[in-house]
Amino acid sequence: MPMPAHTVLLPDISTSDVVLTGDRPTGPLHLGHLAGSLLARVELQNVVKQTVLVADLQALTDNSGETAKVRGSVLGLVADYLAVGIDPAKSSICLQSGVPELAELTILMMNLVTQSRLERNPTIKTEIAARGFEASVPIGFIAYPVSQAADLLGFGATLCPSGADQLPLVEQTNEIARAINRMADKKVFDEVRHLRSVAGRLPGIDGAGKASKSAGNAINLGDDAARIRDCVMAMYTDPGHLRVEDPGDVVGNVVFAYLDAFDPHPHEVAGLKEHYVMGGLGDMVLKRRLVGVLSEMLEPIRSERRRLLDDPGYLLKVLADGTNKSRAEVKRNLSKVREAFSILELPPAA
Ligand code: TRP
Repeated sequence: MPMPAHTVLLPDISTSDVVLTGDRPTGPLHLGHLAGSLLARVELQNVVKQTVLVADLQALTDNSGETAKVRGSVLGLVADYLAVGIDPAKSSICLQSGVPELAELTILMMNLVTQSRLERNPTIKTEIAARGFEASVPIGFIAYPVSQAADLLGFGATLCPSGADQLPLVEQTNEIARAINRMADKKVFDEVRHLRSVAGRLPGIDGAGKASKSAGNAINLGDDAARIRDCVMAMYTDPGHLRVEDPGDVVGNVVFAYLDAFDPHPHEVAGLKEHYVMGGLGDMVLKRRLVGVLSEMLEPIRSERRRLLDDPGYLLKVLADGTNKSRAEVKRNLSKVREAFSILELPPAA
């Protein structure tokens, strides 16, 4: 796997940490995911126990009108994971709907969270506005932080490396963990630490916001050379940099943001920045360099992804194996929560 020069820094990790990360299957992953989380997962899997969750149930909380899209995105997500180097021998790749114990955990945990607490969650607030859900929010959507808490505590996670938008979800998880510990009068769950992804947010090619599927301003991992070139050529640079000899601005310049994230020669990029700021360096030179960097990095990912998608049986087996492995852990944690809730256990059927 060709990896960008700067290996992702992983501070504050101990080998006993259990890591859970995940994505909603709603479409192909893009360079923002690569910089923001996938590269960290590829490194983390060598250091700690890691589960990567294909959160199809969470995807349905705002896609109940597009169930086929969610189902149709599951194997593509697994292919994206494997193509960038997430190794099923080191990381469990788990399908959320394949672990029904998570639903039971969610139901129990819902008793520990108030509606107003969910309504105050800043991530949920933003997402409700973005989806135009203000008039009528599906219960499943407003309650998904409880389901995500069930994911994190169910898998026994101690660490959740993710973007800043996931912090309120981790905080909600820890409130639930403390409530269960109080109920059980012992420590059932460790609190989960949020590790904010160090790569920061990769801007979209238009420079208007972060790279995102819905904004259509992202380069996907599976994009071919022609699309990569088109995207780079369309990238926002410095509108004040009209002639080559004009001094240019590096800050807010999308081409430099991508070179910073992916160019394997950061010293050369530093030199280019100096030159750009002084004037005399044209956007085309930079864009051609970025086309080269991205094409070289993505070509093996794209071909591996294609090869994997031609073998859905293998992808399903990876997912089934990972799901079964993770499920055993969730079962153990569910029985502790059932005990905390004093649930009457029936004898096994004769
Ligand atoms: N909320 C995450 C996202 O939007 C997906 C997710 C579901 C997740 N369950 C999780 C992430 C548990 C980390 C841990 O992509």
